[in-house]
Amino acid sequence: MKTYRIAVIPGDGIGKEVVPAAIEVLDQAAHLDGSFQFEWTTFPWGCDYYLETGKMMPDNGIEILKGYDQIFLGAVGMPNLVPDHISLWGLLIKIRREMKQSINVRPAKLLQGLPSPLRKPNDFDLVVVRENSEGEYAESGGRIHSGQDEVAIQNAIFTRKGTERAMRYAFEIAKTRRQHVTSATKSNGITYSMPFWDEVFVQVGKDFKDIGQVSTHIDALAAFFVMKPESFDVIVASNLFGDILTDLGGAIMGSIGIAPAANLNIERQYPSMFEPVHGSAPDIAGQGIANPLGQIWTGKMMLDFLGYHELGTRVLNAIEATLAQGIKTADLGGTSTLRDVTSAVLNHLR
Ligand SMILES: NC(=O)c1ccc[n+]([C@@H]2O[C@H](COP(=O)([O-])OP(=O)(O)OC[C@H]3O[C@@H](n4cnc5c(N)ncnc54)[C@H](O)[C@@H]3O)[C@@H](O)[C@H]2O)c1
Repeated sequence: MKTYRIAVIPGDGIGKEVVPAAIEVLDQAAHLDGSFQFEWTTFPWGCDYYLETGKMMPDNGIEILKGYDQIFLGAVGMPNLVPDHISLWGLLIKIRREMKQSINVRPAKLLQGLPSPLRKPNDFDLVVVRENSEGEYAESGGRIHSGQDEVAIQNAIFTRKGTERAMRYAFEIAKTRRQHVTSATKSNGITYSMPFWDEVFVQVGKDFKDIGQVSTHIDALAAFFVMKPESFDVIVASNLFGDILTDLGGAIMGSIGIAPAANLNIERQYPSMFEPVHGSAPDIAGQGIANPLGQIWTGKMMLDFLGYHELGTRVLNAIEATLAQGIKTADLGGTSTLRDVTSAVLNHLR
């Protein structure tokens, strides 16, 4: 039987509650499939670890993680005890950068039983593929002078390699979905990087002639996410545009507690990291009322990445069936606990 060795970092706050719930669901999914199993190794890294040791993870943390197939992370942050820039840069960003997780993927889907803030949404089901390593968030630039003479320069860096990689990945996943890719551009306003982005999109698109392809300016695209999200399948976007679009995608779904995400090393040279969009929610931590569905859906994305698409779909169906039954945590207007929701998902996954 195939065994996947997964490094687990529950992190802080509700991460410690939702991660074990998702592991229960993933173990049951593996059991259902019968051809593979998970071997979970938990690392206590995060803010408690920082308060004890002065570090978010040990110096050889990255080396340790490289020995695993994938990383399953909850959330990191205890802003009242450790400043966010320390918790974020000492763990999450370090892992994303050093493991070359250059693609960020976030789906957004209208789920039965989960009211969207859109007034009368049609059935939407989209995925944003965000370039995660360069673009507008490249650490390039500087500040000189002070006072009235002060100048700040921020360079956006787009490499052919990074741009192509994100676009090819978007086309590849469109093949497994509804066969359409939208490229988020702004070549009518940004004079060098975005015309380059458009050219690369056309070039890469030639290798995927059967897949529908269109470029849309990011401002219009943002409006269409609200007006007609059902018109999208896969969207490929630069780091900044993708960052904004994925939050919008999460928002039109209805709750941050449900949104999943993956940071992928698509070359599969290093482990990828699967983590929900939400943070450690210190305001509700330890009460057993956190919504585990974001973490469970994140687990579904790990199943997809490992090649178990049908099984992943069964997990998502179980999430949807749970919501449709009205079993919801307080963030979705319900009264169910984390345990109730997890048990319902397990019951639907049979
Ligand atoms: N990937 C990560 O590890 C990550 C992401 C975002 C924020 N953070 C960190 O988390 C800490 C708290 O940040 P924040 O409050 O801005 O964002 P947050 O996502 O933790 O919480 C925002 C609001 O959403 C609610 N919420 C979030 N997830 C929920 C869930 N699963 N079930 C029910 N309600 C949920 C919270 O109770 C809170 O009211 C900070 O330290 C921040 O840096 C970490």
